[in-house]
Amino acid sequence: MEKAVVLITGCSSGIGLGLAVRLAYDSSGAFKVYATMRDLSKKERLLECVRGGHEDTLKILQMDITDQKSILAVKQNIEEKRVDILVCNAGVGLLGPLELLTQDTMQQILDVNLFGTIRTIQTFLPEMKARRSGRIIVTGSLGGLQGFPFNDVYCASKFAVEGLCESLAIQLHHFNIHISLIECGPVNTNFMANQHKTSPKESELQKIDAKTKALYQAYIQHCQRIFQDDMQDTENVVQVFLEAIAAETPALRYYTNTSMPFNRLKLSFQDGSQYIKAASKFLFPDEQLTDL
Ligand SMILES: NC(=O)c1ccc[n+]([C@@H]2O[C@H](COP(=O)([O-])OP(=O)(O)OC[C@H]3O[C@@H](n4cnc5c(N)ncnc54)[C@H](OP(=O)(O)O)[C@@H]3O)[C@@H](O)[C@H]2O)c1
Repeated sequence: MEKAVVLITGCSSGIGLGLAVRLAYDSSGAFKVYATMRDLSKKERLLECVRGGHEDTLKILQMDITDQKSILAVKQNIEEKRVDILVCNAGVGLLGPLELLTQDTMQQILDVNLFGTIRTIQTFLPEMKARRSGRIIVTGSLGGLQGFPFNDVYCASKFAVEGLCESLAIQLHHFNIHISLIECGPVNTNFMANQHKTSPKESELQKIDAKTKALYQAYIQHCQRIFQDDMQDTENVVQVFLEAIAAETPALRYYTNTSMPFNRLKLSFQDGSQYIKAASKFLFPDEQLTDL
């Protein structure tokens, strides 16, 4: 049986790495995985996870989704000259009061999370359309379904990805191409640590007003608690990707964590006010909310 060719972005760590390893080791031997990463000096971690016995199911290639040339180079290097399952997973976070974020930092995050996803899909879509076959799986986020304070630009990028995928799904349906979003809550990966590298430093926080600073610090503490108590393991999240891959007719959205009361609230009260109230109370329980 011909192997399904899978291309995954962002395999140096976290969800991408976990999925690449899981598929390369699938007992059916049904997958040939092209695990891509922007910096090949980070490939040791992936290699350690697949030590031995992966030669015909895994290939590691360099690909930076902000660089069209590197995406095209990967396309040229795919021996089978087709991708059956494209997984757009690479992404970065950005945390901090909006007033402190620089234009450069904001553009970088959009260049990865939104335009990187678009570039990757654009590159592999024509061949899928010509074959009238393909799967596109995008790593989504709760931050693409509901707003989180101080994640304004990250959420903007992930909301945009939702719009991109939902819009494409309507057209691609006519080409037997299925696009699915795997909506993740907090997952135990490098994501938070990487995010802290771009967030404003203590000295920069001195530039904002005291109230914003206090809310930001309360939010950081809340995130630390959530990431400690409610974080999912990569393996559980990878399982949801496998569900989407195995589905005969994949859904547009899969949720890695089914207890999402705020998202339900948002959908039930469409003017948005109930969500804002509930999220404010939940995230900032010590704050007096005068107008709510
Ligand atoms: N972890 C969470 O709590 C969480 C929650 C919701 C959604 N997500 C989403 O899950 C996806 C994967 O993140 P993760 O949690 O697995 O975090 P991670 O461990 O930080 O992995 C992110 C991956 O994206 C790669 N990447 C960043 N910029 C890139 C670029 N320009 N080109 C190619 N690759 C690039 C990183 O490479 P480097 O190692 O070179 O930086 C890394 O391999 C992201 O889309 C994220 O938004 C994560």
